[in-house]
Amino acid sequence: MAPLFFSKPKLVLLLLLFLAVTGIQSIAFFNSTNTNLEKERIKLGRFLFYDTRLSYNQLKSCSSCHDPAFCFTDGYRTSAGADGYNVKRNAPSLINSVFLKKYTWADTTVHNFAEQMQFPMFNTDPKELGIKGNEKIILERFESDPFYKKQFSDCFPHQKNPINIPNIIESIAAFESVIISFDSKYDAYSKGNKSALNMAAKKGMQLFFSERLACSKCHMNVTLGKEQELYYANTGLYNVDSKNNYPSEDQGLYDKTGNEKDKGKFKIPSLRNVLLTAPYTHNGSVQTISEMIDIYASGGRAIVEGSYKGDGKLNTNKHILIKGFEISKEEKTDLIAFLGSFTDTGFLKNKMLLNPFK
Ligand code: HEC
Ligand code: HEC
Repeated sequence: MAPLFFSKPKLVLLLLLFLAVTGIQSIAFFNSTNTNLEKERIKLGRFLFYDTRLSYNQLKSCSSCHDPAFCFTDGYRTSAGADGYNVKRNAPSLINSVFLKKYTWADTTVHNFAEQMQFPMFNTDPKELGIKGNEKIILERFESDPFYKKQFSDCFPHQKNPINIPNIIESIAAFESVIISFDSKYDAYSKGNKSALNMAAKKGMQLFFSERLACSKCHMNVTLGKEQELYYANTGLYNVDSKNNYPSEDQGLYDKTGNEKDKGKFKIPSLRNVLLTAPYTHNGSVQTISEMIDIYASGGRAIVEGSYKGDGKLNTNKHILIKGFEISKEEKTDLIAFLGSFTDTGFLKNKMLLNPFK
């Protein structure tokens, strides 16, 4: 019998050791390439997010309606698509939207960034980016750009034709998922810095959390990026013809479910940066924060003339917490001071979130 270099048990041990070492190494290797890939995709997504070449006529990008200068909204009541026609809703901020469980103002079926992107990309009425039917010319624009050509192949190695719509969606989603900020005075306060809020803001905070105003019951969790139980509510903005209706072009959740009780239900938005993101509500129909508080104080909005005439206070679909309350001038000032503590522009210091073409 030929002499064995190692005895049998030793061989087994060696084999195990070999497996353990290479196994661990390959896991580590896998992880580091993974995070590098992820980083590269975030970078690619950032370029695409800000690039008007993504729209059929090269006029709009995601950032046209989600501009960091406006905390990733656009400052308009409703946004205009690339074709010049307006969408029916107000553009929400994208800050911390990675923590949401459902996307858009009133649709329970949109669960992630990829699903959400179908709308601005492929909607045809209006055309927000107008990609539908124009995929080829849009992809060719990226094909002919050496930066994109390299970046797509770095991000999606081993793919023959990495410049395609699914990869664009995946990259933009990767970018959206890092638009995160917890840099408001209220964040500092809740982490223990009790002097982060001044006296007025502290008084306003008591009002915000009070039974009388009840703002916190609906808005607090989502503003902190936490999961919320109550997702949609009717806040009595309309009662068209006294029939519990919202304007027929947008009845909120009802348009998806057909359930009468869902008329006028819209998602409860985060109040992060709320003083910077006017106009307000799903259709941008509330101009100022002061007007917004007045509507809550009267328990809904009465519209006295025009085609939307009707008293929102009497809308029986209204959430039970929208009951109206007394509020003095001084209290209102305090409440607004507290809402100001949600101002969070720390993300502007993070160049990786800003327009790479500037
Ligand atoms: C023409 C303006 C416009 C463009 C372009 C646009 N959006 Fe939006 N975005 C909106 C509006 C308006 C809504 C609200 C839509 C709704 O609720 O029906 C919205 C909603 C969203 C939401 C859901 C946020 C939430 O809180 O539920 C995300 C995420 C988003 N957009 C990302 C993007 C990305 C990524 C792009 C580019 C691929 C993009 N948007 C392009 C206007 C736009
Ligand atoms: C029953 C839950 C509920 C309560 C209570 C509530 N809100 Fe709201 N809030 C909502 C919903 C839902 C919307 C969106 C309504 C729409 O677009 O039709 C909203 C919208 C807003 C907006 C507009 C935000 C934006 O980005 O457009 C502000 C500001 C606001 N609420 C502040 C407050 C304040 C301040 C209080 C307390 C006085 C309060 N809310 C109480 C549910 C609530």
